[in-house]
Amino acid sequence: MSGGSDDLFDFIAAALANFVASEGEDYHLSEGMQRQLGFTFSFPVKQTSIASGTLIKWTKGFAIDEMVGMDVVEELNKAIRRQGLDMKVTALVNDTVGTLAAAKYVDNDAIAAVILGTGTNAAYIDHAHKIPKWHGPLPKSGEMVINMEWGNFRSSHLPLTEFDQALDVESLNPGEQIYEKLISGMYMGEIVRRVLLKMAQEAYLFADNVPPKLETPDILSTLHMLMMHQDTTPDLKTVGIKLKEILGIESTCYKTRKAVVDVCEVVARRGARLAAAGIYGILKKLGRDTVCPEQRTVIAVDGGVYKYYKFFAQCMESTLSDLLGEEVASFVVIKQANDGSGIGAALLAASYCQCLG
Ligand code: GLC
Repeated sequence: MSGGSDDLFDFIAAALANFVASEGEDYHLSEGMQRQLGFTFSFPVKQTSIASGTLIKWTKGFAIDEMVGMDVVEELNKAIRRQGLDMKVTALVNDTVGTLAAAKYVDNDAIAAVILGTGTNAAYIDHAHKIPKWHGPLPKSGEMVINMEWGNFRSSHLPLTEFDQALDVESLNPGEQIYEKLISGMYMGEIVRRVLLKMAQEAYLFADNVPPKLETPDILSTLHMLMMHQDTTPDLKTVGIKLKEILGIESTCYKTRKAVVDVCEVVARRGARLAAAGIYGILKKLGRDTVCPEQRTVIAVDGGVYKYYKFFAQCMESTLSDLLGEEVASFVVIKQANDGSGIGAALLAASYCQCLG
């Protein structure tokens, strides 16, 4: 994540080489055909064509500075050649766009895709003429897919706590990806850790000592958070085990364990409600926040937070229903996508390849 550009692309190309080597006997390419690759690259990119784009900036803890401004497809193609593979990237796709393509392939009512994972982002389809920034030729369909990069949203209306502010200042990208830092898997566990630390320091949450490990940034992942939060044992046994395993806290009483669960719940609920607000924003922009016309609206969602954090997913969906009202909500379908982005990128590469004949 913080090495050199070649390290990253050689790593990806080596994984591709392994995959190609593992293909069974049944897989044959026609004579003279080269493997066409769909490349999901889940970072902000200035896309210059279907198979080229330069990295605008890193997000989600990546920090390979030399790559900013470079064409990521060119770099991957070079690494592929270094591996001696006969393969070429024919479609560069953000994960939201891949997820949307995969969803639309099976359901024509899909209009947007949202990622709730390590990071968060969304893409939606709109009329090309509604995009003031677009000066190029209009596509034949008249439509355009917009990768919002909504993780970078910030607003004075978005209240930030002292914990959010401290997390942001100490992050690799201060001042950026503020919405993402409130919602996504990379950060929620860390927010919980910061709240627990303050409770330990000022309210003696863990008796009169502050567990030293609790002072270590990123020690508590969102996966740990959701395992504690989703503990269904009557005495919150799992919470006790996790506190011991992760933070070295030997024994805790029920009240303390319950307080930890409550902190997880507050942070997850806030994230889920904010994510729902983002989706509502897209529906509003597209005029899908009313029943007229009676049209089914499908939104594909992928990412570990949505998939594994059931409380988060349910809270997000119920908030969206509250925002839309029962009647409109009955036309809006949230569909879980499974590796939508990889499949979508492959579909886009395949269809582009067909267009070329
Ligand atoms: C980050 C990236 C964005 C990606 C999202 C979800 O926000 O900047 O491109 O879609 O994470 O992976």
